[in-house]
This record gives sequence, C-alpha cells and structure tokens, in this order.
Amino acid sequence: MRRLQDKHIVVTGASSGIGAEVCRLLGKAGARVTLAARNAERLAAVAGEVRSLGGQATCFTCDVTRRDEIFALAGHATNIFGQIDAWINNAGGGIYHRMLEATEEDMLAQYRLNCLSSLWAYQAVVPSWIKRGWGQIVDVCSLAGKSGFAFGGGYCASKHALSAIGDTMRQELALMGLGPVPGWGSDPGKLKGIVVTTVYPGVTVSDFSKNRVNRATTPEQQAEDAAITRKMKSGSRLVRMTMGAHSTRSVARAIVRALFRPVFTLYTHRGATLVVLAGNLAPGLVSRTAAKLGRSGRA
Ligand SMILES: NC(=O)c1ccc[n+]([C@@H]2O[C@H](COP(=O)([O-])OP(=O)(O)OC[C@H]3O[C@@H](n4cnc5c(N)ncnc54)[C@H](OP(=O)(O)O)[C@@H]3O)[C@@H](O)[C@H]2O)c1
Repeated sequence: MRRLQDKHIVVTGASSGIGAEVCRLLGKAGARVTLAARNAERLAAVAGEVRSLGGQATCFTCDVTRRDEIFALAGHATNIFGQIDAWINNAGGGIYHRMLEATEEDMLAQYRLNCLSSLWAYQAVVPSWIKRGWGQIVDVCSLAGKSGFAFGGGYCASKHALSAIGDTMRQELALMGLGPVPGWGSDPGKLKGIVVTTVYPGVTVSDFSKNRVNRATTPEQQAEDAAITRKMKSGSRLVRMTMGAHSTRSVARAIVRALFRPVFTLYTHRGATLVVLAGNLAPGLVSRTAAKLGRSGRA
C-alpha cells in the first residue's frame, strides 16, 4: 500500500457502495482522494472517514452524465491536489425494464450514466497524461458488460459499450506508443505509459438495486415494476446461491490492488466469470436454462 502514499486519485460514485469502500482503502494507504457524486452530504461523510484513516480528501458534487461537470471535476481535483495520478470511473446505476417496453429515454440515460461518463473522463484527463507520458484509468464495468440478463437490457447494453470504449482507448494508446512498458508498477515513481483497466464485478452487496432508476408512476406501471423486481430478486437469489455475492470491501480491495499495476481487465468474481464466459461460448445452454425456469414458474 506504500505505493499509494500521496498519490492523487479521483473516484466517482464515491458517496456509497464500492466507490466509498475504495475511498476508505485509499485513505488508509495515505492517498490524496478527490471524491465525486451528487449527494454532497454522503460525500462529506465518506471524505471525513478518509481523513480520519490518514488520507487527504476533497469533495466535488457533480452529475457524471454531464461532460462539462466531469471537466469541472478534473479542474477542481487539479487545483486542490495537483496532477491526477489515477481516475476511477465507478459511478453507475441500473434500471429494470422489459426490452419490449424499454424507452429511448431509458436507454440513453443508461448510456449517459454507465458509458459516456467514462468517455468524458478520458477526454478530461488523458490529454494531459499523454504529455507527461503516464497515468491510469479504471472503469468499473460489470459482468453485465459481458453478457445480457433478463430485465436489465439498458444496463447490460451500456456496460457492454463501456467495455468496448475501454478496449478501444487501450488500443489507441498502444498505437500511439503509450501502452505501459514492461515493469510498469514496479516503481510508481517511474511509470511510463497509460493503463486502462476495466473491472468486471459480479453480484456485489450494496444499495445498487435500491438506487436504481424507477420511472413507474401510474398504478399499472408500479404493478409491472413490482412484478419485475420480484423476478429480479429471485434471479439474484439464484445467482447468489450458485455463484456467490461479494462484499463491496472485497471488490474495492481488488480495485485498489490493481492501481499502478499494468492490469487491463480485472474479474473480481471467479465462479460467476466462468459461467458468463461459458454462456458467451454456448448461448444455447443459457437459453435452455432460462426456458426451463420460465416453464417451471420459478422465474
Ligand atoms: N452492486 C453490484 O452488484 C454491481 C455489480 C457489478 C458492477 N457494479 C458497478 O459498480 C459501480 C458502483 O455500484 P455500487 O454497487 O457501489 O452501487 P451504489 O451504492 O448505488 O453506488 C453508485 C454510486 O454512483 C453514484 N452516482 C449514480 N448516478 C450518478 C450521477 N449521475 N452522477 C454522479 N454520481 C452518480 C452514486 O452517488 P449519488 O447518488 O450520490 O450521485 C453512488 O455513489 C457501478 O458502476 C455499478 O454498475 C455493481
């Protein structure tokens, strides 16, 4: 953890869940942390914890879906703590809906939150890193960025897009001669190259479901939302039973361990990852299992 001492790291979605845990771990390591999210009160509380653990903290209240606010966040972070060493794109959220009823507004809102917010961050910080020759972006994606799941279409599509822009950014940096050189991370004082790390967590115990976007206003929509929520809960129980759920602490630990190391993709849930990747190779198997669940009335 000594390598994180005094490093300046920006964390979005720092007011709760995985992001807040990452900030606490960074505080313990003596890092300088810029925390960003919309809820100023919760941000201030997490920043207080970072300071009491030995780190330095500054907060910036913003909506990551707004490109101008991401640029303002980068400006605030630089003004307070100087050059940014790493940036963690963690802010995100989901929506439950049926594909046949997904609206343009729902889909675009998911893209803005889960994918474009990261793109704006690349544009805000990477140009200055190109000049100095090093830096690290960490995108907190999801196994939903490797596979679809029922009623999570907008979320899955936006996380797939996030995975794709991370891969693309990595390749473009490599073509510019800015991929990390061998030994990157062994001496953080001499980093050379820019690393884009994409993290793929599976089910993690947090307020993620509680914080999801819910646009149901009419009684019919609310009844439909309750039905979908029940199905999501039983699906999530099944996933937890078969593949396990992780704590925000264990996911945050994996993210912090990847800082200032040349890690390109990080899978935090081994069992779930194997199932998802197997499902990519054999989609028929997934469909047959879903069909069985559908017929048995268990889904
Ligand atoms: N929990 C899971 O099972 C799971 C699995 C895989 C991946 N992930 C990913 O992990 C990341 C963190 O999720 P979590 O589980 O820790 O959920 P969470 O507790 O709901 O945290 C989401 C964070 O994002 C922030 N946020 C949401 N919309 C924002 C916006 N427009 N502008 C700025 N900040 C915004 C929230 O803060 P404010 O409300 O204060 O803005 C909050 O700090 C997300 O990207 C999620 O997709 C989660």
